[in-house]
Amino acid sequence: MKVTQAEFVISAVGPDQYPEDALPEIALAGRSNVGKSSLINRMINRKNLARTSSTPGKTQHLNYYRINEELYFVDFPGYGYAKVSKTQRQVWGKMIERYLLERETLKMVLLIVDLRHPPSKDDELMYDWLKHYEIPICVVATKADKIPKSRWQKHVKQMKEGLLMRKTDSFVMYSSETGVGKDELWAHIESIAGL
Ligand code: GTP
Ligand code: MG
Repeated sequence: MKVTQAEFVISAVGPDQYPEDALPEIALAGRSNVGKSSLINRMINRKNLARTSSTPGKTQHLNYYRINEELYFVDFPGYGYAKVSKTQRQVWGKMIERYLLERETLKMVLLIVDLRHPPSKDDELMYDWLKHYEIPICVVATKADKIPKSRWQKHVKQMKEGLLMRKTDSFVMYSSETGVGKDELWAHIESIAGL
């Protein structure tokens, strides 16, 4: 995909704020600080359109980014950040669950995980939950630049086995630092979104 236009549209908390133009949507879920917003920026070649931070908990709503008037990326708040209060976590959980269950234009969830580590309990729960509701998933293991290439395959195996990934689910190794995996992920998104 040649990205010629990318813009932030809205930070939504509920359905009455979702865009109404019915473009396909690709959502990004993952643990706080794993690199969801950075992944979006690398996909669209912009340094900081999606706000990133070394402090976890930066993204707090469903942040919509429209790409080429053709699709949306929907950036979620991260899960598993201890300093977020229990009440806040429940509010986010409801917001995300409602979106995932009701949003008809949702085409796929990118489950963003950290290639360096085995999946967390929350990653496993999210994967199982998405499978249960039959929502199409692509697992994207990011921060690949932090591991030597010679060990990539070992980490890929550890991730796939840890999540008990089905063979039919797609998996992309990625780095927002180097751009590894970007073309592969775009090709997959374009095919799923029917572009
Ligand atoms: P929340 O919005 O808090 O859920 O975080 P997030 O998942 O959006 O993470 P974000 O993109 O803000 O990145 C968190 C930190 O990880 C930042 O310091 C990024 O620079 C760094 N980071 C993200 N992706 C990569 C990557 O592929 N490689 C390296 N080396 N660092 C990365
Ligand atoms: Mg973020």
